[in-house]
Amino acid sequence: MVDALVSTKGLKKYFLASKSGLLNRIFKQQPPLVKAVDDVNIQISSGEVLGLVGESGSGKTTLGRLITTLETPTEGEIMFAGQLVTGKNRNKIRKQVQMVFQNPFESLDPRQSIKSIVTEPLLKMGVPKEQKDAQFEKVMSAVSLDRNFAERRPRDLSGGQRQRIAVARAIISNPKFIVLDEPTSALDASVQSQVLNLLVDLRNDYNFSYLVITHNIAVARYISDNIATMYAGQIVENGPTGTVLKDPKHPYTQALLKSVPTLDTKRVEPPQGEVPSLIDLPTGCRFHTRCPFVMEKCKTNDPTMRKVGEANVACWLY
Ligand SMILES: Nc1ncnc2c1ncn2[C@@H]1O[C@H](COP(=O)(O)OP(=O)(O)OP(=O)(O)O)[C@@H](O)[C@H]1O
Ligand code: SF4
Ligand SMILES: [Mg+2]
Repeated sequence: MVDALVSTKGLKKYFLASKSGLLNRIFKQQPPLVKAVDDVNIQISSGEVLGLVGESGSGKTTLGRLITTLETPTEGEIMFAGQLVTGKNRNKIRKQVQMVFQNPFESLDPRQSIKSIVTEPLLKMGVPKEQKDAQFEKVMSAVSLDRNFAERRPRDLSGGQRQRIAVARAIISNPKFIVLDEPTSALDASVQSQVLNLLVDLRNDYNFSYLVITHNIAVARYISDNIATMYAGQIVENGPTGTVLKDPKHPYTQALLKSVPTLDTKRVEPPQGEVPSLIDLPTGCRFHTRCPFVMEKCKTNDPTMRKVGEANVACWLY
C-alpha cells in the first residue's frame, strides 16, 4: 500500500528466554529465544484504526512497542510516513508516535503531578512554558477532565480518569499515530464506553491513526476499521472489521469469535487447547496443534498469507 502511514516488512522480535541464554551466546551455542513477533507484515493507513486481537502472550504488546520504536527489531523493517525507521531517525520518529500502556494504574508515575505527567512529552521537545500551559488546558478539555486536576497525583483519580490522563499525555504532542494497549480492560463497563467514545471523538477531530490492542472483540468491533488476528507471534488474518467478524476465515479467528463477549465482559473465552511455547514453536502452521481442520500438510508446511475475499488469511484451507 503506497499511502500507508505505518508498515512493517518481515518484522521480528526475539527475546533471550533467560539470562542463561546470554551464557549460551558467550559460549557460542544457540541460546533459547522467545519469538514474540515473528515475521509480521502489516499496513496502517493515515486515519485508520486497526484492532489487534489475540490471546495472551501472542506478541501484541511487543508489536505495539516495536512500531512505537520502544523496542528495536531483531530483523525486518518499519516504515513510518514514508521513512524507514533506523537508529539515526528513531528519536525524530518517536516524537510522532505515542503509546498508551496496558495498565493505567502502573503506567502513571505516582509521585508526579497530573500536569507534569500529561506535559512530559512536550518537555523532550523543548516547548516554551506558555505554550505548554495552553496545550495542557486544551488536552484536558479534549478528554473532558477539569484543569483543576493539574496538581493532583494519580492516586487521587478513578480508573477512568487515569485512563483519560494517559490518553491526554498521548495526544498532547499531536502525534500522527497512537498505540492503545488494552485501553479499557481495567475499567468498569460504563467507563469503558466513555473511554471508547472519547477515542472515537479524538480520532474524528484530529485524524489520529490508532493501533488498538484488545482481548475484547466487542471493543475491536466498536472502534476499528480493520482487524488483525495475532497467533504465536504472527498475523494469521486481517481485513475490514465487518467482513472479519461476520465471516472469519482463519480457524483461529473463528475460535476467538465463538464466544463473543459483550462490552462488560473483559476477556474472550480462549479457544480449546494449549497456547504453544514461543521458545519451541510447532512446525508448519503454528495453530495445527489446536485446529479442528488440521490436515497432514499443516503439520510441516507454513501457510503464507493470501487474499480470500476482502481479507488476507494464512491457512491451507484457502
Ligand atoms: N522483555 C522481554 N523479555 C523476554 N520475553 C519477553 C519480553 N517482553 C515480552 N516477552 C515475551 O514475549 C511474548 C509475547 O509477549 P507480549 O507481552 O507481547 O504478549 P501480549 O499478546 O501482549 O500478551 P497479553 O495479552 O497478556 O498482554 C511472551 O511470551 C512474553 O513473555
Ligand atoms: S493451516 Fe491447517 S492447521 Fe493451520 S489453521 Fe489452516 S487448517 Fe488449521
Ligand atoms: Mg500485552
